[in-house]
Amino acid sequence: MLMDSWGRQITYLRISVTDRCNLRCVYCMPPEGIQLQNHETILRYEEIASVVRVAAEHGVTEVRLTGGEPLTRPNLPALVGMLSVIQGIRDISLTTNGLLLERYALPLAEAGLKRINVSLDTLRPERFARITRGGSFETVWRGILAAEKAGLAPIKINVVAMRGVNDDELLDLARLALDHPWQVRFIEVMPVRNEASWGENLPNSEEAFLPIAEIKERLASLDLQPATGKTGSGPAREYFLAGGPGRIGFISPISDHFCGECNRLRLTADGHLRPCLLSDLEIPILPALRRGEPVLPLLQQAVALKPESHELVQNHRPVTRCMLQIGG
Ligand code: 5AD
Ligand code: SF4
Repeated sequence: MLMDSWGRQITYLRISVTDRCNLRCVYCMPPEGIQLQNHETILRYEEIASVVRVAAEHGVTEVRLTGGEPLTRPNLPALVGMLSVIQGIRDISLTTNGLLLERYALPLAEAGLKRINVSLDTLRPERFARITRGGSFETVWRGILAAEKAGLAPIKINVVAMRGVNDDELLDLARLALDHPWQVRFIEVMPVRNEASWGENLPNSEEAFLPIAEIKERLASLDLQPATGKTGSGPAREYFLAGGPGRIGFISPISDHFCGECNRLRLTADGHLRPCLLSDLEIPILPALRRGEPVLPLLQQAVALKPESHELVQNHRPVTRCMLQIGG
């Protein structure tokens, strides 16, 4: 088993398959974009699968594919197919911006993908284009409907809640769970190399920060009741809402961190194991993989290095990568 120094068992691996994205969300990357990695430094599908095989032999049961935007990597269903036959892997999910979902939802589901999380911070097309620096709301919406039709369930909608950006429509976003069997999750903005001004009359990450307690107040009219039984092993605190088939979730990495329940390890597209999203600590794994050396000791080392809680607690911020290069 992969057990860390604080008694937490690691059962969940988040795998970033690319540092490319077809959007540029303001909280995720700087306006000028980032220096992309060369193809040779990106893990191949076979290499990812070999890491997952070892992880699965040591207690990892759940895998999530992230990016950048994972669907910009050619033939992602092929990777899903390779992972879904690995013994011990019970759940494969995907975090996507949804732009390419209309095309890929069915092939992904056929390859063994179980469910998806789609980032959607607004229901207003113009605002969507502003937050994502050019994205099409309608395309994402069609993507979500295609995912539903393909049987990917439950569908989770990730909303980064931002004061002065989308805080006037949090109730509208939550109401999606009244009309659809989806889980709408509100996430606090995290300062991950996104602290400079976001430009275009937008606030910066500090000004935009909206604590979950305040978000809950804005949703008071929905009569939220704590849900029994979670839909996954993630950090969201889940609620039912009266009169709707969906759920509401809250993810509070800043105001009420959930590090005590952390069950995960991250693998970056360029082959680094990252013990904590909000700490710059990393273990390179690509050289060992390409030399044919065992990766188990590196997985164990990364797990052993997991901090008890993240660095923001000590008022220190991760600076080496932006969210796009970690995968959230
Ligand atoms: N703070 C909070 N959430 C973020 N995401 C990306 N950047 C940030 C940030 N700075 C979210 C995206 C996506 C998920 C992977 O992480 O909206 O849904
Ligand atoms: Fe791309 Fe997702 Fe980052 Fe937006 S949040 S820029 S969609 S990786």
